[in-house]
Amino acid sequence: MSPIQKNMSELDTLLMELPRSQLFDAMDSNKLNKEELERALDDHYLMTLAFVPSLAQFLETLPKESRFENLRQVMRENLNDEIGKGETESHKKLYEDLLRENFGKVPRRDSVPTFILEYWEQFRKLVEQSEPLIVAGAIYALEHQMAGMGGQFVSIQKQLAALGLKDTGYFQLHIDLDGNPEHGHAALERKAAIDAIKNDKDFKDFENGSLKMAELRKKTFDKVYKDVKGE
Ligand SMILES: [Fe+2]
Ligand SMILES: [Fe+2]
Repeated sequence: MSPIQKNMSELDTLLMELPRSQLFDAMDSNKLNKEELERALDDHYLMTLAFVPSLAQFLETLPKESRFENLRQVMRENLNDEIGKGETESHKKLYEDLLRENFGKVPRRDSVPTFILEYWEQFRKLVEQSEPLIVAGAIYALEHQMAGMGGQFVSIQKQLAALGLKDTGYFQLHIDLDGNPEHGHAALERKAAIDAIKNDKDFKDFENGSLKMAELRKKTFDKVYKDVKGE
């Protein structure tokens, strides 16, 4: 194992061991009622809308150096999956289908809650003002956390099932698409990042981006929990 691979596997362990939001613990033990889950998924759906513009922005601003070429390619494939140029419809549409089938009409809110606007803004700033490897780390943390490793989407599926509702495909797709240890977004991005990382500063950037994003996500999911519990 090269020193960079070792650093990366330590980062993976670190990300896996970070505390996760109480929102997912509540879902694991079926503590949300239907209205609360509906609101949590509305909030989460809105959170997901920050991803595509940030990924597109990353691709636009990534320097044209050969060490970034693999990263550019896997991030472009990721973007294509998101916008429906891959094997499935756009992820936005899939999420809307899930909300419509389980809870009725879409769109669901007249206005976006302030804490979601803040999440969008902080996400945008992180992407706009950062070195490429900080942004790559941030995006990596999202793919990493969503799937098997953080187990968040499995918790959502559990809560849906406990209420007699169903995952119409959105969450399972992401568990498969992001979490596959060889072909998943996280795995591909890890490999491409290893190609792009040339020194300690690069790795530190990647790690900082990952940890910042993980923290931002946790904080925001904690706010979702407060939102659904009316606190
Ligand atoms: Fe997605
Ligand atoms: Fe993904």
